[in-house]
Amino acid sequence: MLDGYHIITLTHRDAPLQALRYAVVEDGQANMLPALKQRFDWKELFYLATCNRVMYLFYQQGPISEHLIPEVLRMVRPELSDAQLQTTSAQMRLLHGTDAVQHLFEVAASMDSLVLGEREIVRQLREAYDRNHAQGLTGDHMRLLLRFTIETAKEVYSQTGIGEKSLSVVALAFSAMLRAGVSPQDRILMLGAGETNTLFGRFLTKYGFKNITVSNRSYENGRVLAEKLGGKAVLFDALSEYAGGFDALIVCTAATQAIVTPELYAALLQGDAGKKVVVDLSVPHNVAAQVVENFNVEYVEIEGLRSVAEEHRSFREQECAKAAVLIQERIYAYRDLWHERQVERAMAHIPDEVRAVKDRAIQEVFAKDFAALDPQAQATVLKMLEYMEKKCVAIPIKAAKAIALRGKKQTEKVG
Ligand SMILES: NC(=O)c1ccc[n+]([C@@H]2O[C@H](COP(=O)([O-])OP(=O)(O)OC[C@H]3O[C@@H](n4cnc5c(N)ncnc54)[C@H](OP(=O)(O)O)[C@@H]3O)[C@@H](O)[C@H]2O)c1
Repeated sequence: MLDGYHIITLTHRDAPLQALRYAVVEDGQANMLPALKQRFDWKELFYLATCNRVMYLFYQQGPISEHLIPEVLRMVRPELSDAQLQTTSAQMRLLHGTDAVQHLFEVAASMDSLVLGEREIVRQLREAYDRNHAQGLTGDHMRLLLRFTIETAKEVYSQTGIGEKSLSVVALAFSAMLRAGVSPQDRILMLGAGETNTLFGRFLTKYGFKNITVSNRSYENGRVLAEKLGGKAVLFDALSEYAGGFDALIVCTAATQAIVTPELYAALLQGDAGKKVVVDLSVPHNVAAQVVENFNVEYVEIEGLRSVAEEHRSFREQECAKAAVLIQERIYAYRDLWHERQVERAMAHIPDEVRAVKDRAIQEVFAKDFAALDPQAQATVLKMLEYMEKKCVAIPIKAAKAIALRGKKQTEKVG
């Protein structure tokens, strides 16, 4: 049964993101995970920490202490006050058996993520497994489960649309700019060098844009971003004299009023009457309404993108229902696999024992008879014994798997 699997977790669903740190094993606590495993007598441990969650997945047969969560937390974070320990413990969940396996599948399929359908989690799970394995925390139960979990996530992503249709406003803005006809050889002028424009810049680099100019209130921040993007920086205060022109203007600053006035826009155009693409991701808008009204502009603005992102979110939520059905099927499939694996493990000694019987027959029990045979007859006898050996190994394993499967089906019927 899967009842040896358990999860202790703190997620974005149960606590504010900044509270996740109270359950985290920090980088400096190199021996904490082996120490936890030993202290609580867990056979295996898999630990995952992302910006959405902290998870301790462990394998242990037998009863689990009711006070396990505060006990684990006390060990991981001895500096927490009693009140803090109590609050965090109450926000954490302890899941057992099938519920634990289901939770892990849902996490991997990004059904439990802050950004629904974000596939990044699969890489995080793989990397966490490699780390845990290298630390000697995992064994056969985790290896089997994590491999199956990653396959499950891949199945969910390929058979549902949970990871389709972007939810990122920046990604949507970039796609809108491309749809408006801007191509990698065009001139990009960016106003602002904060997080959002840096993110936008990653898409520019990925798609091979090279002709990029960044203008920012503080020159140094603008220069840093321009360097990252292989472009140049210009002083924000000297922008009205900028003579480089542009095909797309990307505006995103924390200014609370329009910084792209009709006068500045006209100066930037340098007399160019061609249609320009203007992306304004600032809240409130940083491009004056008169610019959009009076110039030849295809305007991409944040509110429109947000409503598209919202539509995409509801699409993904609908796909989540399909994913849930698939996950239920995968839990049954994992139970079968797990049972088979237990049979294999229980029978692991059989090949050695059968081989020992064969060797004893030749070397002891029938040693004289065997020695009396001519070389050709000896070769034939050995061939027959090897054939028997292979078949004898397979018979009990097959029978045991059939018995286990029958037992499991009966249990399911009763349940
Ligand atoms: N972060 C997001 O996911 C996201 C998504 C969509 C939209 N937005 C919106 O995008 C805008 C910027 O967000 P962010 O996350 O990129 O901010 P950020 O990382 O804090 O960067 C702010 C940028 O605005 C510049 N700036 C601040 N005040 C200014 C002013 N009065 N005049 C000219 N420039 C000024 C800063 O220049 P210095 O370098 O000189 O400080 C910096 O380049 C906000 O309106 C935000 O609501 C954010």
